This record gives sequence, C-alpha cells and structure tokens, in this order.
Amino acid sequence: MAKRVETKELTEVSEAQIAVHWKEEEYYQPSEKFKAQAYLRDPRIFERFGLDRFPDCFKEYADMLTWFEPYRTVLDTGDAPFWKWFVGGKINACYNCVDRHLDKYKSKAAFIFVPEPENEPDVVIKYQELYSRVNEVAALLRGLGLKAGDRVTFHMPMVPELPITMLACARLGIIHSQVFGGFSGQACGSRMQDSGSRVLITMDSYWRNGTLVDHKANADIAVRAAKDLGQDVDKVLVWQRYPGKYSAKTPMVSGRDFFVNDLLKDYKGKQVEPVALASEGPLFLMYSSGTTGKPKGAQHSIAGYLSYVTATSKWILDIHPDDIYWCMADIGWITGHSYIVYGPLANAATSVLYEGVPTFPDAGRPWRIAERLGVNIFHTAPTAIRMLRKLGPQEPRKYKYHFKSMTTVGEPIEPEAWRWYYDEVGKREAVITDTWWMTETGGFLGTTVPAIHPMKPGSCGPGAPGIHPVIYDETGAEVPKGSGKAGNICIRNPWPGIMQTIWGDRDRYVKTYFAKYNKKPKSKDWRDWPFMCGDGAVQAADGYYRILGRIDDVINVAGHRLGTKEIESACLTVPEVAEAAVVPVQDEVKGRVPEVYIAVKPGVPHSQDIIDRVVKANEDVIGKIARPKHVYIVPDMPKTRSGKIMRRVLAAISNRRDVGDVTTLANPDVVEQIRTMVQGKAVVAAQEALPEDIAKFGEIE
Ligand code: WTA
Repeated sequence: MAKRVETKELTEVSEAQIAVHWKEEEYYQPSEKFKAQAYLRDPRIFERFGLDRFPDCFKEYADMLTWFEPYRTVLDTGDAPFWKWFVGGKINACYNCVDRHLDKYKSKAAFIFVPEPENEPDVVIKYQELYSRVNEVAALLRGLGLKAGDRVTFHMPMVPELPITMLACARLGIIHSQVFGGFSGQACGSRMQDSGSRVLITMDSYWRNGTLVDHKANADIAVRAAKDLGQDVDKVLVWQRYPGKYSAKTPMVSGRDFFVNDLLKDYKGKQVEPVALASEGPLFLMYSSGTTGKPKGAQHSIAGYLSYVTATSKWILDIHPDDIYWCMADIGWITGHSYIVYGPLANAATSVLYEGVPTFPDAGRPWRIAERLGVNIFHTAPTAIRMLRKLGPQEPRKYKYHFKSMTTVGEPIEPEAWRWYYDEVGKREAVITDTWWMTETGGFLGTTVPAIHPMKPGSCGPGAPGIHPVIYDETGAEVPKGSGKAGNICIRNPWPGIMQTIWGDRDRYVKTYFAKYNKKPKSKDWRDWPFMCGDGAVQAADGYYRILGRIDDVINVAGHRLGTKEIESACLTVPEVAEAAVVPVQDEVKGRVPEVYIAVKPGVPHSQDIIDRVVKANEDVIGKIARPKHVYIVPDMPKTRSGKIMRRVLAAISNRRDVGDVTTLANPDVVEQIRTMVQGKAVVAAQEALPEDIAKFGEIE
C-alpha cells in the first residue's frame, strides 16, 4: 500500500509539479521602533486591497500622483490582456518626480552621487538643480526635433546624467530605452534596431574597479550593429564624465557625434513645460531575456507604472522625507528604474547613486559610504551580499551606520546569506524585505509589508497589497499552500505596474505571459487572464512564497537575466562551431554562471584558440557578464533520438551530479566521455539534490 502511494506521488511530481524538500525557517520580528515609524502598519490594508475590491482599490495609488486631468476609468479591459490603467487622465512623470516637490523640497538633495574613486568628492543634486538640469536637457532634446512617442536609446553608466536624461525624456513623452552600461555595443545596437531609435545617448567613460573605461567605443559598435540590422542612427550624444574634457580615445564622428555639454550651452536656463500626456502612454522600454534568442522590450506605461512604484516605495521601502535611501543596483536594470529613479523621486526622497563596484577598493566601501552619508535604508541584491560577505564578513562592524530597513531583490537568497545580512549588515536592528518581482511587472509582487509581517529567511512573503498570486501545476490545477509542492507562480489579477506589451510584438506578449493558463482567448474579463511570471515557486502553510527560479531558458547570473539562446547564438558566430549548448552552474557568489558545450564542424581540430574565441564572442555580442565559466569542446552533444540536445544531462555534469539514466538517448556513450572530461575519471560521490531551476533546466522549449 505504502509503496503504491509513493509511486503515485512520484508520477504526480514528475509530470505536473516539482517536489520541494525544504526546511522551514524561523520567523524574525520587526522591532517596535521600526513599527512605530512605518507608513503602513494596519493589517486591514489587505482587506482594502482584497480581490473583491479590485480594481478600485488601486485608486489609492493614483491618488499619490498629481494629475493635470483626472482619469475616468480605473481599469479598461476592452483589449484584454493589454490592460489600460487610469484611462482618460493626463499626467507627466517628470512633473511628479521633480516639479511638484519644489515648493517644499527645493533645497533638499534628490541625488547624492558617489564616484568610484574614493578621493573624488560627492556631487549633491538638489531638487531645484535637478529641475534646471532636466529642463535644459529637455529643451535640447526638443531642439533636436524629438517629440512624444519617439524612442531614444541610452547606453549609460551610473552617473546623475542618466536619471537627468530619463526625466528630460519623460517631460516630453519621449520613450527612453536604457541598455545596461555593461552590455556590449552589439547588444546595444540590436536593441536600438528593435525599438527603432535614431538617437543614442551615451557617456565617454566611467570608473569601474579602478579603471576609467573607454565607453564611447561601444557607441561606434552599436551604431554599426544597428545599421547592419537596418536601423540608421543619426546622432550620438556623448556626455562627458569630466565636463569639458574628453576622456575616451575613440574619435568623435563629425556630423554624428556631439558632446552634450557643448550643445547645452545654447539651452542655459531654458524651461520646458511638462507635456500633459495620456495616462496609458508609454514611459520607457526595458529589454529583458526570455526563451528565444531575441530580447523582449517590456513597455511600461506612464500613470500605471508611476503610481505603482510610488506606492510601493512609500509602503514597502517605507521611504520618509528625512531618510537617506541607497539602492545599490544599476539604473540599467528595472530595479534602478523603479527604485532608484521613479519611485523614490516621486516620494521626494534623497537617493544615493554609486558609480562603481561594491568591493572597490575593498569590501568596506559600502559601509563607509553608508556611515559618511547617514544612509538608513539600504537596498541590494543577493549576489552583492554574498560577495561582501565572502570578502569582508567583519567589515560592517567597523562602521557606525544604522539601517532601519534593508531590501533584497533579484534572486532567491540563501537563508545563510540572509542571516549575515540581518546580523552583520543590519546589526540586528534593520528589517529585511525580500522583494520578488521582474522587469515585466514594474514593481514588487511578493514581499512582506515590513511593519506588518514577520520575516522568514529565503521566502519573499505573501503577495504585496493588491497582488493575488496563485501557483498552478502544468495542467492548470491550483497547487495548495502547505502541500510542499511547487509549480508555476502566476498573478490572478492585473495591477497598475504591469507592462503594457512587448514592444512591437503583441502576439509574443500574449503567448509568453498568458497563453498557458488562459482558457478563453476572446474573454475581456481579467479573471480569465492570470499572468504567468516565469518562476517556479512553493507556498508554505503560512502563505509565504519561496521562489525557486526561472522556469524558462533564462540563467540568472548575479541577478541579471541572460537567455541561453542568446548565449548559444553568440557561440555560433565562431565559424568553426557547429553546435552549442549552455547550462547554468551553481556559483558561490554569482548564484548561477553559464557553462558552454560546443561541438565543432567535421574535420576541425580542437584548439584552445576556438575556446578563446567563443569566450570573446560572448563578451562582444552580450557583454562580460555572459562570460562562460568553462567552454568544453565535446565530440558530440548528448541527444534524444529526435535530435534534441539534452541540456539537462549537461547541466547535471556541469553541476557535478549523477546524470541519471541516459540509455534512451541516441548516443549514450558520449555522455560518459563528456562526464570524464568535466568531472574527471572518478565517479561523483554522494548526491546532493540539484536546485529546482537547474533540475528543470532545458525541459521547457
Ligand atoms: C528572480 C529583477 C527570488 C526571479 C527585479 C525573477 C527573485 C527574475 C527575486 C526577474 C527574489 C527577482 N527572490 N527570485 N526576491 N527577485 N528574482 O527581470 O527569477 O531582472 O523572475 O527583475 O529574478 O529578473 P529581472
């Protein structure tokens, strides 16, 4: 009898669910001191934001913004699942982040820029100065003929000129598309082509790990790459890291490249009225990786997005007017857009902007900055936490800062790393919110409300107010909480921060996020359109969610989403490579790193040179973050009889696990050859279970 049950469970699990064996962690309580000062303390908020109050509950979010004309409809579902929020209203994001604060806060710092070189002074930008600088840049952009609806691509580092240029675009309704500064010129160029940008805004150089990087070189590559794909770029606007001085070696192209600081001379003191834009107009695009090789441009709206990041910055990050808030992330990712720029500024916050790497020149740097500036809210990713813990576990003790609140975002955090964050970085005083969300969702989906819920290491907590998650198995059945089983986490309802569409690809939007669990494709009822987030998750009996990682072919490298197909295509640009397969490997600091297997064309001798060129191809096509840990040239890929590469088998080998039964493969012998090449002759010993994202890797096509 017992045996039968076991078999049944096994089948159920392998077909429809992922079993999760995980020790329950204990709760940590927020301090009374924190609770007493928090904005959101009343648990009845969850009644106010219950599904029965949807969508009107979100009026409260819209009320946090200043409107030029009020909206008429809270949520228009007429073009489901392309939701339109706060329809009929007129609004401007820049006005909400800058102008409306001038009366009260003009002398307050909006940004404190901390350059990477420790001997360079901070740059404080007060709201009044932010207003003037944004206006001048807006006047310049208008002078160049740019207008609402045009797309402009940025490829900028972490400097104040980045948010200034973003806000200048927002003032005019120009849709900005910032490509992470660490991405290669080619990656930037292909995103320019996809978005149809004719203007690139970049910076000559920036500091990274002690080196002044020549960044202008990437602009030339980007323009060429865009042109090869059929997109002409007319202008490259180059900010100077040191105004008045050109800090790159790459020559400026006459008639195409211009120094922003030169052009701005004609716009000194100019003011530009913020344009009254339709609520559902697009604010920006943010490209992100998915299952196919082509990155998706997530299109975010003005009013819905801004209201969502404003409300969550206030209620979850709990930013008050006299706080000094530091989100140590890059504005080139969604975290920076939502929680360095738009959310904090809409709340008139003081936001710290750090140029460089957290461990430069040593692992005490973040804590020195926090002490010097009086930072009391700190926000970062598990990869940074793991790195700082590894290189300087005792460093936080040396500095006299005090955080009241800390956030983690971007990847699952191991309970071990969480406890170091809590004990050492937070000095047991600070609350931690583990915020789970993604590029597509604009802002937090799963998180504790820090003054209401206790914390539980490794779990993000329940849904944020007004977010109603559900876990479905492969067949669409709900996985109950406390069952110990995982499935695909979805959100039952739309929310204002959700992306509007994939730029230029409505079908892909529906297919990627809704098709799997939508049973009535013609329905205009939001209840028929749960949003599939793309993560595996498990819900404990207390309602807290634990996120297991991506279920599509995405590798989360140090909190950055890289598509395996993008990496594989990059490998195939090396002419000798016939086939490439990429798998995620566990890494102590970065969480996951890609490892590459290639098969070369017949007759081509194996050589280190090919391996080197594969590594370089990844750096050139995507960026240094895509650098594989290893590249193995294998005699053949393990394949099914139908010819599909078994990435799962390679993932097991790379992660030093047993490959399991491979007898059904077309070429089982090659598995042992590859295994010895990677793991050595000895058979791997005792088996630790693979993390779920790796165990499931390669199963979804
Ligand atoms: C992962 C970053 C566990 C998740 C905001 C998601 C997390 C992907 C968490 C999105 C978290 C993000 N716990 N996993 N707190 N936050 N993730 O688009 O797999 O760069 O799907 O957005 O990161 O990454 P993205």
